[in-house]
Amino acid sequence: MKGVKLLGFGHYCPENIVTNKDLETIVETTDDWIIKRTGIKERRISTGEGTVELAYKAALNALENSNCIKDDIDLIIVATTSPDKIMPSTACSIQGLLGCKNAAAFDISAACSGFVYSLIVASSLIKGTDKKRALIIGSEVLSKIIDWSDRSTCVLFGDGAGAAVLELCEEEDSIISTCFSADGNLGEKSLVAAELKLNTPFAQDNSIEKRYVEMKGGEVFKFAVSVLPEIVKELLSKSNEDIDNIKYIIPHQANLRIIDEAARRLKINKEKFYINVDRYGNTSAASIPIALSELFEKDLIKKGDKIILAAFGGGLTWAGALIKF
Ligand code: UT7
Repeated sequence: MKGVKLLGFGHYCPENIVTNKDLETIVETTDDWIIKRTGIKERRISTGEGTVELAYKAALNALENSNCIKDDIDLIIVATTSPDKIMPSTACSIQGLLGCKNAAAFDISAACSGFVYSLIVASSLIKGTDKKRALIIGSEVLSKIIDWSDRSTCVLFGDGAGAAVLELCEEEDSIISTCFSADGNLGEKSLVAAELKLNTPFAQDNSIEKRYVEMKGGEVFKFAVSVLPEIVKELLSKSNEDIDNIKYIIPHQANLRIIDEAARRLKINKEKFYINVDRYGNTSAASIPIALSELFEKDLIKKGDKIILAAFGGGLTWAGALIKF
Protein backbone atom coordinates (compact mmCIF):
# COMPACT_ATOMS: atom_id res chain seq x y z
CA MET A 1 0.00 0.00 0.00
CA LYS A 2 1.31 3.47 -0.85
CA GLY A 3 0.25 6.49 1.13
CA VAL A 4 1.40 9.98 1.98
CA LYS A 5 2.74 10.98 5.37
CA LEU A 6 3.05 14.53 6.69
CA LEU A 7 6.55 14.88 8.14
CA GLY A 8 6.48 18.35 9.65
CA PHE A 9 5.42 21.96 9.51
CA GLY A 10 6.93 25.43 9.82
CA HIS A 11 5.91 29.04 9.64
CA TYR A 12 7.28 32.53 9.54
CA CYS A 13 5.52 35.88 9.93
CA PRO A 14 7.02 39.38 9.73
CA GLU A 15 7.88 40.83 13.14
CA ASN A 16 6.05 44.12 12.56
CA ILE A 17 2.71 44.09 14.41
CA VAL A 18 -0.05 46.47 13.27
CA THR A 19 -2.82 46.78 15.85
CA ASN A 20 -6.39 47.93 15.34
CA LYS A 21 -5.45 51.11 17.21
CA ASP A 22 -2.71 51.73 14.61
CA LEU A 23 -5.34 51.41 11.85
CA GLU A 24 -7.58 53.93 13.65
CA THR A 25 -4.94 56.52 12.68
CA ILE A 26 -5.23 55.88 8.91
CA VAL A 27 -8.92 55.04 8.26
CA GLU A 28 -12.24 55.80 9.97
CA THR A 29 -12.53 52.67 12.06
CA THR A 30 -12.34 51.56 15.69
CA ASP A 31 -10.69 48.74 17.59
CA ASP A 32 -14.15 47.90 18.91
CA TRP A 33 -15.73 47.60 15.40
CA ILE A 34 -12.90 45.39 14.09
CA ILE A 35 -12.98 43.06 17.10
CA LYS A 36 -16.79 42.76 17.17
CA ARG A 37 -17.17 42.20 13.38
CA THR A 38 -14.08 40.06 12.77
CA GLY A 39 -12.32 38.96 15.98
CA ILE A 40 -9.07 40.43 14.64
CA LYS A 41 -6.92 42.31 17.18
CA GLU A 42 -3.65 42.64 15.26
CA ARG A 43 -1.89 41.46 12.11
CA ARG A 44 1.70 41.21 10.88
CA ILE A 45 2.62 43.55 8.02
CA SER A 46 5.89 43.26 6.11
CA THR A 47 8.24 46.23 6.22
CA GLY A 48 10.44 44.90 3.42
CA GLU A 49 10.32 41.12 3.20
CA GLY A 50 8.65 39.81 0.05
CA THR A 51 6.54 36.71 -0.58
CA VAL A 52 9.66 34.70 -1.52
CA GLU A 53 11.48 35.70 1.66
CA LEU A 54 8.58 34.73 3.92
CA ALA A 55 8.16 31.45 2.02
CA TYR A 56 11.89 30.71 2.30
CA LYS A 57 11.94 31.26 6.08
CA ALA A 58 8.82 29.12 6.59
CA ALA A 59 10.36 26.40 4.36
CA LEU A 60 13.60 26.33 6.39
CA ASN A 61 11.53 25.92 9.56
CA ALA A 62 9.46 23.10 8.02
CA LEU A 63 12.55 21.27 6.70
CA GLU A 64 14.17 21.44 10.14
CA ASN A 65 11.00 20.19 11.87
CA SER A 66 10.78 17.33 9.33
CA ASN A 67 14.45 16.33 9.71
CA CYS A 68 14.85 16.79 5.96
CA ILE A 69 17.66 18.28 3.93
CA LYS A 70 17.30 20.16 0.66
CA ASP A 71 18.39 17.22 -1.51
CA ASP A 72 15.49 15.12 -0.15
CA ILE A 73 12.91 17.42 -1.79
CA ASP A 74 11.87 16.64 -5.36
CA LEU A 75 8.70 18.76 -5.60
CA ILE A 76 7.98 22.33 -4.45
CA ILE A 77 4.52 23.89 -4.68
CA VAL A 78 3.79 27.41 -3.45
CA ALA A 79 0.25 28.69 -3.01
CA THR A 80 0.09 32.46 -3.28
CA THR A 81 -2.13 35.29 -4.49
CA SER A 82 0.51 37.93 -3.87
CA PRO A 83 3.66 36.78 -5.71
CA ASP A 84 6.63 39.15 -5.93
CA LYS A 85 6.82 38.51 -9.68
CA ILE A 86 4.65 36.83 -12.30
CA MET A 87 7.77 35.02 -13.49
CA PRO A 88 9.74 33.18 -12.16
CA SER A 89 7.14 31.54 -9.96
CA THR A 90 7.59 31.83 -6.19
CA ALA A 91 8.21 28.07 -6.11
CA CYS A 92 11.07 28.35 -8.64
CA SER A 93 12.64 31.16 -6.60
CA ILE A 94 12.43 28.97 -3.49
CA GLN A 95 13.92 26.00 -5.37
CA GLY A 96 16.87 28.20 -6.33
CA LEU A 97 17.32 29.74 -2.87
CA LEU A 98 17.14 26.40 -1.08
CA GLY A 99 19.31 24.70 -3.73
CA CYS A 100 16.82 21.82 -4.13
CA LYS A 101 18.38 20.80 -7.45
CA ASN A 102 16.22 17.66 -7.73
CA ALA A 103 12.92 19.48 -7.37
CA ALA A 104 10.22 20.42 -9.89
CA ALA A 105 8.57 23.68 -8.86
CA PHE A 106 5.38 25.58 -9.62
CA ASP A 107 2.80 27.90 -8.02
CA ILE A 108 -0.88 27.36 -7.39
CA SER A 109 -3.32 30.26 -7.50
CA ALA A 110 -6.40 29.36 -5.49
CA ALA A 111 -6.40 32.29 -3.03
CA CYS A 112 -7.21 31.30 0.56
CA SER A 113 -7.83 27.67 -0.49
CA GLY A 114 -4.38 27.49 -2.09
CA PHE A 115 -2.59 25.55 0.64
CA VAL A 116 -5.23 22.80 0.75
CA TYR A 117 -5.29 22.69 -3.08
CA SER A 118 -1.46 22.29 -2.92
CA LEU A 119 -1.76 19.48 -0.38
CA ILE A 120 -4.19 17.61 -2.64
CA VAL A 121 -2.08 18.18 -5.78
CA ALA A 122 1.20 17.27 -4.04
CA SER A 123 -0.19 14.07 -2.51
CA SER A 124 -1.62 13.01 -5.90
CA LEU A 125 1.72 13.66 -7.63
CA ILE A 126 3.61 11.78 -4.91
CA LYS A 127 1.31 8.76 -5.33
CA GLY A 128 1.12 8.98 -9.14
CA THR A 129 4.58 10.04 -10.38
CA ASP A 130 8.25 9.48 -9.48
CA LYS A 131 8.20 12.45 -7.04
CA LYS A 132 8.64 11.17 -3.49
CA ARG A 133 8.93 14.15 -1.16
CA ALA A 134 7.19 17.53 -1.48
CA LEU A 135 7.62 20.89 0.19
CA ILE A 136 4.35 22.83 0.05
CA ILE A 137 4.11 26.45 1.14
CA GLY A 138 1.38 29.08 1.52
CA SER A 139 2.99 32.52 1.43
CA GLU A 140 1.39 35.94 1.20
CA VAL A 141 2.42 39.56 1.40
CA LEU A 142 -1.14 40.74 0.91
CA SER A 143 -0.21 44.23 2.11
CA LYS A 144 1.11 44.77 -1.46
CA ILE A 145 -2.42 44.52 -2.87
CA ILE A 146 -4.38 46.20 -0.07
CA ASP A 147 -5.84 49.68 -0.49
CA TRP A 148 -4.87 51.21 2.83
CA SER A 149 -7.54 53.88 2.43
CA ASP A 150 -10.37 51.29 2.13
CA ARG A 151 -11.58 50.50 5.64
CA SER A 152 -13.81 47.68 4.40
CA THR A 153 -10.76 45.57 3.41
CA CYS A 154 -7.59 46.99 4.96
CA VAL A 155 -8.47 45.94 8.52
CA LEU A 156 -8.92 42.29 7.50
CA PHE A 157 -5.66 41.04 6.02
CA GLY A 158 -2.12 40.23 7.16
CA ASP A 159 1.20 38.87 5.85
CA GLY A 160 2.77 35.48 6.66
CA ALA A 161 3.85 32.06 5.44
CA GLY A 162 3.43 28.44 6.48
CA ALA A 163 4.92 25.24 5.06
CA ALA A 164 4.72 21.46 5.24
CA VAL A 165 6.78 18.49 4.05
CA LEU A 166 5.06 15.32 2.84
CA GLU A 167 6.51 12.07 1.60
CA LEU A 168 5.54 8.75 0.11
CA CYS A 169 5.16 5.97 2.69
CA GLU A 170 4.34 2.28 2.66
CA GLU A 171 1.92 2.67 5.58
CA GLU A 172 -1.68 3.86 5.71
CA ASP A 173 -2.34 7.16 3.86
CA SER A 174 -2.50 10.11 6.29
CA ILE A 175 -4.80 11.98 3.93
CA ILE A 176 -8.04 10.10 4.48
CA SER A 177 -10.43 12.19 2.40
CA THR A 178 -10.37 15.44 0.43
CA CYS A 179 -12.65 17.78 -1.47
CA PHE A 180 -11.95 20.80 -3.65
CA SER A 181 -14.04 22.91 -5.96
CA ALA A 182 -14.72 26.41 -7.35
CA ASP A 183 -17.40 28.86 -8.51
CA GLY A 184 -15.83 31.28 -11.00
CA ASN A 185 -18.99 33.31 -11.62
CA LEU A 186 -19.45 34.11 -7.95
CA GLY A 187 -15.72 34.88 -7.67
CA GLU A 188 -15.80 37.53 -10.43
CA LYS A 189 -18.72 39.22 -8.72
CA SER A 190 -17.49 39.24 -5.14
CA LEU A 191 -13.69 39.17 -4.71
CA VAL A 192 -11.07 40.40 -7.19
CA ALA A 193 -7.56 41.88 -7.06
CA ALA A 194 -4.77 43.22 -9.26
CA GLU A 195 -6.25 43.10 -12.75
CA LEU A 196 -3.59 43.34 -15.49
CA LYS A 197 -4.45 45.71 -18.34
CA LEU A 198 -4.38 45.00 -22.08
CA ASN A 199 -1.12 46.25 -23.62
CA THR A 200 -0.51 45.52 -27.31
CA PRO A 201 1.19 47.85 -29.85
CA PHE A 202 -2.29 48.71 -31.20
CA ALA A 203 -4.49 48.73 -28.12
CA GLN A 204 -3.49 50.10 -24.79
CA ASP A 205 -5.97 50.24 -21.95
CA ASN A 206 -5.33 53.51 -20.13
CA SER A 207 -8.16 53.15 -17.64
CA ILE A 208 -7.16 53.28 -13.99
CA GLU A 209 -5.33 50.16 -12.91
CA LYS A 210 -7.29 48.01 -10.48
CA ARG A 211 -4.42 47.08 -8.27
CA TYR A 212 -6.10 46.34 -4.97
CA VAL A 213 -8.37 43.77 -3.37
CA GLU A 214 -12.03 44.63 -3.90
CA MET A 215 -14.52 42.57 -1.95
CA LYS A 216 -18.26 42.43 -1.48
CA GLY A 217 -17.83 41.39 2.13
CA GLY A 218 -21.46 40.42 2.72
CA GLU A 219 -21.55 38.12 -0.36
CA VAL A 220 -18.32 36.38 0.64
CA PHE A 221 -19.57 36.10 4.23
CA LYS A 222 -22.76 34.31 3.11
CA PHE A 223 -20.73 31.95 0.91
CA ALA A 224 -18.25 31.23 3.73
CA VAL A 225 -20.82 30.39 6.43
CA SER A 226 -22.52 27.98 4.10
CA VAL A 227 -19.47 26.29 2.54
CA LEU A 228 -17.45 25.80 5.76
CA PRO A 229 -19.96 23.37 7.36
CA GLU A 230 -20.49 21.70 3.95
CA ILE A 231 -16.75 20.93 3.67
CA VAL A 232 -16.73 19.36 7.14
CA LYS A 233 -19.85 17.27 6.42
CA GLU A 234 -18.52 16.09 3.03
CA LEU A 235 -15.17 14.99 4.49
CA LEU A 236 -16.85 13.13 7.38
CA SER A 237 -19.26 11.41 5.02
CA LYS A 238 -16.54 10.45 2.48
CA SER A 239 -14.42 8.88 5.23
CA ASN A 240 -17.36 7.44 7.20
CA GLU A 241 -16.08 9.30 10.24
CA ASP A 242 -17.83 10.87 13.24
CA ILE A 243 -17.16 14.47 14.24
CA ASP A 244 -16.50 13.31 17.81
CA ASN A 245 -13.35 11.54 16.56
CA ILE A 246 -11.94 14.75 15.07
CA LYS A 247 -9.55 16.50 17.45
CA TYR A 248 -9.37 19.86 15.66
CA ILE A 249 -10.96 21.62 12.75
CA ILE A 250 -8.55 24.14 11.24
CA PRO A 251 -10.66 26.60 9.28
CA HIS A 252 -9.32 29.32 7.01
CA GLN A 253 -8.87 32.25 9.40
CA ALA A 254 -10.95 35.01 7.79
CA ASN A 255 -13.39 36.12 10.45
CA LEU A 256 -14.26 34.77 13.91
CA ARG A 257 -17.98 35.26 13.16
CA ILE A 258 -17.72 32.86 10.21
CA ILE A 259 -16.19 30.23 12.51
CA ASP A 260 -18.84 30.86 15.22
CA GLU A 261 -21.62 30.43 12.66
CA ALA A 262 -20.06 27.25 11.22
CA ALA A 263 -19.84 25.78 14.75
CA ARG A 264 -23.49 26.67 15.35
CA ARG A 265 -24.64 25.10 12.05
CA LEU A 266 -22.59 21.96 12.70
CA LYS A 267 -23.91 21.86 16.30
CA ILE A 268 -20.40 21.41 17.66
CA ASN A 269 -18.42 23.10 20.38
CA LYS A 270 -16.36 26.05 19.14
CA GLU A 271 -13.41 24.67 21.13
CA LYS A 272 -12.88 22.14 18.32
CA PHE A 273 -11.83 24.96 15.98
CA TYR A 274 -8.23 26.15 16.19
CA ILE A 275 -8.28 29.94 16.03
CA ASN A 276 -5.49 32.48 15.55
CA VAL A 277 -7.25 35.10 13.41
CA ASP A 278 -7.05 37.46 16.42
CA ARG A 279 -3.23 37.57 16.09
CA TYR A 280 -2.67 37.38 12.31
CA GLY A 281 -5.86 38.51 10.55
CA ASN A 282 -6.59 36.84 7.22
CA THR A 283 -3.30 35.65 5.67
CA SER A 284 -5.04 33.88 2.75
CA ALA A 285 -3.05 30.80 1.59
CA ALA A 286 -0.80 31.05 4.66
CA SER A 287 -3.56 30.89 7.27
CA ILE A 288 -4.03 27.10 7.46
CA PRO A 289 -0.33 26.13 7.42
CA ILE A 290 0.50 28.79 10.06
CA ALA A 291 -2.25 27.29 12.27
CA LEU A 292 -0.99 23.73 11.65
CA SER A 293 2.56 24.73 12.46
CA GLU A 294 1.41 26.41 15.70
CA LEU A 295 -0.54 23.28 16.73
CA PHE A 296 2.64 21.20 16.41
CA GLU A 297 4.80 23.85 18.04
CA LYS A 298 2.43 23.77 21.05
CA ASP A 299 2.53 19.95 21.03
CA LEU A 300 -1.27 19.79 20.68
CA ILE A 301 -1.29 16.95 18.11
CA LYS A 302 -0.35 13.35 18.93
CA LYS A 303 0.13 10.31 16.71
CA GLY A 304 -3.29 8.95 15.68
CA ASP A 305 -5.10 12.31 16.05
CA LYS A 306 -7.47 13.23 13.24
CA ILE A 307 -7.96 16.79 12.07
CA ILE A 308 -9.94 18.57 9.37
CA LEU A 309 -8.62 21.42 7.23
CA ALA A 310 -11.36 23.61 5.72
CA ALA A 311 -10.54 26.49 3.37
CA PHE A 312 -12.55 28.96 1.29
CA GLY A 313 -11.71 32.15 -0.55
CA GLY A 314 -11.17 34.05 -3.78
CA GLY A 315 -12.04 32.35 -7.03
CA LEU A 316 -14.34 31.54 -5.36
CA THR A 317 -12.63 28.36 -4.27
CA TRP A 318 -13.04 25.91 -1.43
CA ALA A 319 -11.12 22.82 -0.30
CA GLY A 320 -10.83 20.44 2.61
CA ALA A 321 -8.84 17.49 3.88
CA LEU A 322 -9.34 14.99 6.70
CA ILE A 323 -5.91 13.96 7.97
CA LYS A 324 -4.77 11.28 10.43
CA PHE A 325 -1.35 11.77 12.02
O1 UT7 B 1 -10.36 35.20 2.69
C1 UT7 B 1 -11.32 35.66 1.77
C2 UT7 B 1 -12.60 35.47 2.37
N1 UT7 B 1 -13.07 36.72 2.94
C3 UT7 B 1 -13.96 36.67 3.89
O2 UT7 B 1 -14.30 35.62 4.37
C4 UT7 B 1 -14.59 37.97 4.33
C5 UT7 B 1 -16.07 37.74 4.54
N2 UT7 B 1 -16.79 38.95 4.96
C6 UT7 B 1 -16.66 39.44 6.20
O3 UT7 B 1 -15.90 38.94 7.00
C7 UT7 B 1 -17.54 40.61 6.60
O4 UT7 B 1 -18.51 40.81 5.61
C8 UT7 B 1 -16.75 41.94 6.82
C9 UT7 B 1 -15.90 41.83 8.09
C10 UT7 B 1 -15.87 42.23 5.62
C11 UT7 B 1 -17.71 43.10 6.99
O5 UT7 B 1 -18.58 42.84 8.09
P1 UT7 B 1 -20.14 43.09 7.96
O6 UT7 B 1 -20.75 42.79 9.25
O7 UT7 B 1 -20.62 42.30 6.75
O8 UT7 B 1 -20.22 44.62 7.73
P2 UT7 B 1 -20.81 45.43 6.47
O9 UT7 B 1 -19.89 45.27 5.28
O10 UT7 B 1 -22.25 45.06 6.29
O11 UT7 B 1 -20.71 46.90 6.99
C12 UT7 B 1 -21.49 47.37 8.07
C13 UT7 B 1 -21.16 48.81 8.32
C14 UT7 B 1 -21.21 49.66 7.06
O12 UT7 B 1 -21.70 50.93 7.42
P3 UT7 B 1 -23.24 51.32 7.14
O13 UT7 B 1 -23.41 51.17 5.65
O14 UT7 B 1 -24.07 50.34 7.93
O15 UT7 B 1 -23.33 52.72 7.62
C15 UT7 B 1 -19.77 49.80 6.66
O16 UT7 B 1 -19.51 50.98 5.94
O17 UT7 B 1 -19.82 48.92 8.82
C16 UT7 B 1 -19.09 49.84 8.01
N3 UT7 B 1 -17.70 49.43 7.99
C17 UT7 B 1 -16.81 49.79 8.93
N4 UT7 B 1 -16.94 50.54 10.03
C18 UT7 B 1 -15.85 50.71 10.80
C19 UT7 B 1 -17.08 48.63 7.08
N5 UT7 B 1 -15.79 48.48 7.43
C20 UT7 B 1 -15.60 49.18 8.57
C21 UT7 B 1 -14.50 49.38 9.41
N6 UT7 B 1 -14.65 50.14 10.51
N7 UT7 B 1 -13.29 48.84 9.18
